[in-house]
Amino acid sequence: MTDTTWSGIAPSILTADFARLGELVDTVLDAGATVIHVDVMDGHFVPPITMGPIVVKALAEQVHDRGAVLDVHLMIERPERQIEAFAEAGCDAITIHVEATPNVHFALQQIREAGCRNGLALNPGTPAEAVDAVAADIDLVLCMTVNPGWGGQPFIASSPAKVRRLKELVGDGVVIQVDGGITEETIGTCAEAGATLFVAGSAVFGKPDPTAALQAIASRGSRP
Ligand code: DX5
Ligand code: ZN
Repeated sequence: MTDTTWSGIAPSILTADFARLGELVDTVLDAGATVIHVDVMDGHFVPPITMGPIVVKALAEQVHDRGAVLDVHLMIERPERQIEAFAEAGCDAITIHVEATPNVHFALQQIREAGCRNGLALNPGTPAEAVDAVAADIDLVLCMTVNPGWGGQPFIASSPAKVRRLKELVGDGVVIQVDGGITEETIGTCAEAGATLFVAGSAVFGKPDPTAALQAIASRGSRP
């Protein structure tokens, strides 16, 4: 698993047709995606309930056989209680929200001990400085560019400035991921600000031709 693996477009299966999930994951892997993003919601931290370790387990072999990785984004309260189950299901990275637990450092450590890369996500209302206390102990920081909970929301325009601030705080060793409202129009400003991993749900799976859509977004996401 190289750092080039952890870059580019990470299609979010949240918007995929679940009756055709395996086929659609193959489609985006064929199109060049190396990271598959799995949005887990618990009905508490955010209103919707989505999926759990069972979906990670169902996709793990298929994704790993292609040299790609599974990136789990936990939008759940007290994520430290679920880390083991997701790691055992076969994911490669687990991102928790700084707003979701008083035990952020503990949970991040627990993720690494379970053999996964760890990530810390920040909601739009949380200042970039929230990453400060754990900046030396994270592999990835996820800057939410919409409020978490639903696909298809518009990109929050102030996000690139926050990405830029995060870049100053975490330096070069930490992957900066953006999530929400990423399209051909919005990806460029995030890349310029320092993001290198771009979650895209509806802009890929919501399009009639996910391959062409993914490649069009990717072509605008390289850092100048
Ligand atoms: C939002 C999720 C996102 C979502 C993005 O709560 O974390 O990953 O799937 O969807 P789009 O790309 O449609 O904004
Ligand atoms: Zn997500």
